[in-house]
Amino acid sequence: MKIKNICCIGAGYVGGPTMAVVAQKCPNIKVTIVDINAARIAAWNDEDLNKLPVFEPGLDEVVKEARGRNLFFSTDIDKAIDEADMIFISVNTPTKTYGKGKGMAADLKYIELCARQIAQVSKTDKIVVEKSTLPVRTASAIKNILENTGNGVNFQILSNPEFLAEGTAVQDLLNPDRVLIGGDTTEAGQKAIQALVDVYANWVPNERILTTNVWSSELSKLTANAFLAQRVSSINAMSELCEKSGADVNEVSKAIGMDSRIGSKFLKASVGFGGSCFQKDILNLVYIAKTYGLTKVADYWEQVIIMNNHQKQRFSDKIVSTLFNTVSGKKITFLGWAFKKDTNDTRESAAIMVADNLLNEQAKVSVYDPKVIEERMYADLDYLNTRTEAKNRELLTVSQDPYEASKDSHAIAVLTEWDEFKTYDWQKIYDNMHKPAFVFDGRGILDVAHLRSIGFECYTIGKG
Ligand code: UDX
Ligand code: UDX
Ligand code: ADP
Repeated sequence: MKIKNICCIGAGYVGGPTMAVVAQKCPNIKVTIVDINAARIAAWNDEDLNKLPVFEPGLDEVVKEARGRNLFFSTDIDKAIDEADMIFISVNTPTKTYGKGKGMAADLKYIELCARQIAQVSKTDKIVVEKSTLPVRTASAIKNILENTGNGVNFQILSNPEFLAEGTAVQDLLNPDRVLIGGDTTEAGQKAIQALVDVYANWVPNERILTTNVWSSELSKLTANAFLAQRVSSINAMSELCEKSGADVNEVSKAIGMDSRIGSKFLKASVGFGGSCFQKDILNLVYIAKTYGLTKVADYWEQVIIMNNHQKQRFSDKIVSTLFNTVSGKKITFLGWAFKKDTNDTRESAAIMVADNLLNEQAKVSVYDPKVIEERMYADLDYLNTRTEAKNRELLTVSQDPYEASKDSHAIAVLTEWDEFKTYDWQKIYDNMHKPAFVFDGRGILDVAHLRSIGFECYTIGKG
């Protein structure tokens, strides 16, 4: 079976870039990305490529090449489903905020709505691909809905988890370590797998396309994210020990990373990991383990989250204790709000909890981030419900300029590792601050020797 028409439901951080690259690499396939959010679709269609709703290096070029040729963005979900022979589901699956599994399980309501809509609209056979990160066995739930509400149409369900990292999405999509496709072991299942393999084979070498059963594929995605997050929590645990013992976490990272069994990537100590996946996927893993009664397995993975929360907490504690045990009324400047550099995404960003803690201490927080808009920052804080929306706007201010943001402040805290922070005129920043002027580098990116020579008092994660 040759795929001619793809529909992707969900035009977010995963669906948008992924399908843009599929369209770029497969000019003979028509790709339509649909979303219920009309403003988001309008932004994807905006003439001005700077207004794309997702900021990713290189994405504008990909969209420019394919949009209008074989890549379309639309709110007409029914039409796109009807026309497609393959449908990707790429909607959000946040952690549940209510009911059973609250705070742990993935909320599958958006997925279920999609499945019901596909069942209702479809008149011809379809391959449905789950692209969102989902708990193991979701595919079988989707299958159940489709088979029991569809009108005689045959559906094949595939799991095709996305491993792209934000900030490097386009590169990761163009040159993936591997593409994973899980499907039924039946003949029809194998045919569906082959159809998707053929799509990727347009640009991914065959030996990097792995096929498995559906459950292995679903579990591999959760496992990959759990392992990656665990590495960050492990090095962050060492960072606290380094600070106490006088070791340097960067030296430790380098020394262990040269062991080929460990490897050098993902060993950068930080103020804590963020992003839409790590915490959600681990909580999900913990929930699944508990569901099967595997308490020890659940506890093991939960520790990764506990460590991460501790890392964020101790960063704000460090700021308060260093500033003579009070930050009340003091201006503290945040450089960065995104959960990592080169993205405008802030989901689960460490900056949110650190800011919330400091606002509880009555600090005045002033934020500069090169890509995150003001409304996003306030929405992140308001979501916590710690204080009134008015109070959040009174205590936290947002600046378009780093020098403006740091003027008259007592301390600078680096929350995101944006490259531009390294190139600032730090003398100028120092001159306009209260003295003693402090820098808290939560990402270990600044040249501390240089800052000290200017007169800054410096703290860097993981340096004793
Ligand atoms: C280890 C370190 O590898 C070595 O660098 C250090 O100097 C001493 O400790 P060793 O204990 O000799 O070396 O053997 P190793 O190969 O690391 O295995 C340790 C244990 O882990 C064994 O019981 C091995 O069977 C087990 N293991 C290892 C697994 O169960 N799974 C694996 O994937 C790897
Ligand atoms: C992650 C996975 O990498 C990706 O494969 C999956 O598809 C989605 O989840 P993402 O969340 O976009 O991607 O970014 P990632 O680069 O993994 O970083 C996650 C968080 O860990 C960030 O907050 C980052 O700053 C932090 N991190 C990462 C560290 O603190 N230290 C490191 O060494 C690496
Ligand atoms: P991700 O990081 O998984 O891509 P996002 O939140 O960035 O998550 O994107 C998910 C997108 O899915 C959102 O734009 C949301 O509006 C869209 N969406 C959610 N439910 C539906 C639905 N039933 N039909 C169409 N789009 C949906």
